[in-house]
Amino acid sequence: MPNKTLTVTDNRTGKSFDFPILEPTIGPDVVDISEFYKNTGMFTFDRGFTSTASCRSRITYIDGGEGKLMYRGYDISYLATQKSFLDTAYLLLHKELPTKEQLDSFSLELKKRSFVHESMKKLFDAFPDNAHPMAILSSAVAALSTFYFDHLDLDSPEEVMEMAHRIVAKIPTIAAFSYRYSNGLPVIYPDLSKGFTENFLYMLRGYPHHHVELSPIEVQALDTIFTLHADHEQNASTTAVRVVASTHAHPYAAISAGIGALWGRAHGGANESVIRQLELIDNVDNVEKYIAKAKDPNDPFRLMGFGHRVYKNFDPRATILKKLRDRLSDELNINSQYVEVANKIEQIALNDEYFVSRNLYPNIDFYSGLILDALKIPKEMFAVIFVIGRTPGWIAQWIELKEQPDMKIARPRQLYLGPNDRTPQ
Ligand code: CMC
Repeated sequence: MPNKTLTVTDNRTGKSFDFPILEPTIGPDVVDISEFYKNTGMFTFDRGFTSTASCRSRITYIDGGEGKLMYRGYDISYLATQKSFLDTAYLLLHKELPTKEQLDSFSLELKKRSFVHESMKKLFDAFPDNAHPMAILSSAVAALSTFYFDHLDLDSPEEVMEMAHRIVAKIPTIAAFSYRYSNGLPVIYPDLSKGFTENFLYMLRGYPHHHVELSPIEVQALDTIFTLHADHEQNASTTAVRVVASTHAHPYAAISAGIGALWGRAHGGANESVIRQLELIDNVDNVEKYIAKAKDPNDPFRLMGFGHRVYKNFDPRATILKKLRDRLSDELNINSQYVEVANKIEQIALNDEYFVSRNLYPNIDFYSGLILDALKIPKEMFAVIFVIGRTPGWIAQWIELKEQPDMKIARPRQLYLGPNDRTPQ
């Protein structure tokens, strides 16, 4: 038994049980309850996993009270302002920031893998017009294993890295194709002369034989958005990825599950909901009415882009994006009417007892929507942008899980409240 333990006493029997306390590098200590059921005969109950550490991880650290976020020990503001998304993706996948040569080689390897099998077009063709790009994206990623069935040996680190590169490289292409097909537009193939982020914008906006003007500032803004989304420890979609991976399913299946989990408006779908909510509120005179709705316990209306399970302070990603939004407001033609509405929401909410007492601060999605809108990215693509950014994080978490020798299938228990013994005797 380690030095530090937590003693739990069952006050029905007076029996006490000791549980080891594990110490992290930083952050709260963690009580190891893996033997809880074996020792006590009881399960623990943790609605929404608010108090449960589901794994050991060395990837991302969040201090929700301080509003701090680090990927592999690097502060998010350093990565978002000094490094590119590809630097960050490399850091997540390879555990260290790349040298110039490593970055160039990583970029080249991704370019080589950025095309998708021509037969995949039949898959895209099968979806009806106006199909949501997130639906197409998750289906197409799940289908990747049917087109790329080599390098699937999950026990070989080289093959695992091949899959990792393949997924990071192909997701932007599939994402752009999803949008093009859902709008009846011709697909645009990757342009190998362009960098990762520029190429994605090009595939989204381009037309065959037509030059597309992409300003460096647009590319830089989107690159920063990708970096800010690259990982976020054990959030709902990452947990979905890990749960699927724990069954030894293929990574394409795990990432597809992550995309499904991310889509909901409580998670990655919030950025689309924020902009739709700004459209609904429309002007500053309506803000108070909607704040009152958000506070009404009998009204399901929630202020989208506010609140977070972990951050009980400013979301550091939101702070970076707010600065970016304000810095780019003229150059990117950010919708000033909606900025005014957003500013008024923020100003009221940050001083309102309801939001203050619940520690509800603006999160990343509160600001990303207006920037994406100014980048002329269609609203239904906002969650897809989140997916492109989050993919290296999901894969890093998947690799980490596979590297842990004591990895167990994720299999929680329940508090059963249903009927008993109804079968006629
Ligand atoms: N508007 C109004 N009230 C809220 C909001 C909101 N956006 N968020 C939380 N609350 C209230 C909630 O009603 C509850 O009040 P009470 O204690 O009176 O019942 C209290 O605050 C705690 O909320 P919760 O739902 O128990 O908190 P949670 O940790 O389970 O949920 C959340 C976190 C992000 C799902 C939630 O805050 C929310 O729905 N926010 C809006 C959607 C959103 O912006 N999501 C993006 C999250 S950031 C991107 C990402 O990483 O996914």
